Amino acid sequence: MTLWHGRLGGGTASEVMALSASLPFDRILAPDDLAGSRAHVRGLGRGGILDETEVATLITALDQVEAELASGTFAFAEDDEDIHTAVERRVTEIAGEVGAKLHTGRSRNDQIATDLRVYARRSVREIAGMVLDLEDVLATRAREVGAVYLPGYTHLQRAQPVLLAHHLLAHGQALARDVDRLVDTLVRMDVSPLGAGALAGSSLPLDPDGVAAELGFTARFENSLDAVSDRDFVAEVLFDIALLGVHLSRIGEELVLWSTDEFGFVVLDDAYATGSSMLPQKKNPDVAELARGKAGRLLGNLTGLMATLKGLPLAYNRDLQEDKEPLFDSVDQIRLVLAALTGLLRTIVFDADRMQAAADSSAAAAVDLAEWLVERGVPFRQAHAIVGGLVRDSMERHVPLSELVEAHPVLGTDAAGLLAPGVAVTRRTTPGGAGPGPVQAQLDRFARRLQRDRERIGM
Ligand code: ARG
Repeated sequence: MTLWHGRLGGGTASEVMALSASLPFDRILAPDDLAGSRAHVRGLGRGGILDETEVATLITALDQVEAELASGTFAFAEDDEDIHTAVERRVTEIAGEVGAKLHTGRSRNDQIATDLRVYARRSVREIAGMVLDLEDVLATRAREVGAVYLPGYTHLQRAQPVLLAHHLLAHGQALARDVDRLVDTLVRMDVSPLGAGALAGSSLPLDPDGVAAELGFTARFENSLDAVSDRDFVAEVLFDIALLGVHLSRIGEELVLWSTDEFGFVVLDDAYATGSSMLPQKKNPDVAELARGKAGRLLGNLTGLMATLKGLPLAYNRDLQEDKEPLFDSVDQIRLVLAALTGLLRTIVFDADRMQAAADSSAAAAVDLAEWLVERGVPFRQAHAIVGGLVRDSMERHVPLSELVEAHPVLGTDAAGLLAPGVAVTRRTTPGGAGPGPVQAQLDRFARRLQRDRERIGM
């Protein structure tokens, strides 16, 4: 029996049910739907629409539904269109006539908007917690590797040596912004739509403020039309996850490069690598590649939802049912990537010798030579040209740069000392720079921020 059997006769065509049913994917909302129904029932009690016994009967029935869902004994019926229908049907089976009062003053429109916010809230908190775990691993590894340095790149060409800790924390900074964004999103989505009804509110004495408080929302909706049609929070969560995914894809890409024989900067732990079905010698960085690859799918979920929302008239339209699968998928996928990538980075072995050898090419300190000249009064543009000329000479005549520097009338032996292995990176002393001093300061601030962010999301 459909929810609208009073109005429409003869039953719904099976193709229509197949098209419109959302139960296959929205059953994940069961805990959120039950929380919403409990709050709604208590609100009806406060408004005097249900008496105390009715409230108690409905709450007991909702508890039983929860237990059945948790133990896997809940039997879905063929015409349960969505999780709301399934729960209401079962509550009515258990509670008898009172069950028919559960949906008083409520529409599935405000119900789904509420369920989805409660789901989004718990998912965003969990994802933010997982990002913090990954930040923690990056910070721990950054502390461990101490003075290890590697080439910093621009255009994927070696540019200047940087501490490995600095490189790891660069990714950490992006992730910290992701957490910040997720927390902002939580603040904006902290509004309960329950009590908006189908679109216009109700003639019954509902208690949207009390219901909002019981569901842990700071506020209730201001406008019922907006309450049932607003999916900004879904779009924001999808954006936050997409950008987080983009950040993870950049880490992934570097790990793919770093684990090649050509780079050889890292060795993956066997548990976080995969083999080949044909080539016995292979050890593949599939985790890093999937971190890179999933970002495309996450972007697709975001753009798909934005296209669904574009041009929708107020208020609820069934198109809005298309908000769920992208949201659930992005949440599921980012959790998978975060967990695997965190494990990979926790166990990865850095090859300090390979990294440092790559960074020790003498030209990597070229800018230090120029700056050495600047300190002695040479305008930077001239200093740049002098050193550039020496580098070019060294390459064309196959003479080590250090020899040319030593022989140079202004540069000489002191300046040549800058080209010794490991020296250049120590010369990055400005705040936020890649040398030991600023990186230590950054590590300390990062640890404090991590702690503060954990408190912000309560995990
Ligand atoms: N499954 C629906 C959704 O996800 C629930 C709301 C249905 N509302 C309606 N008026 N048909 O949006």
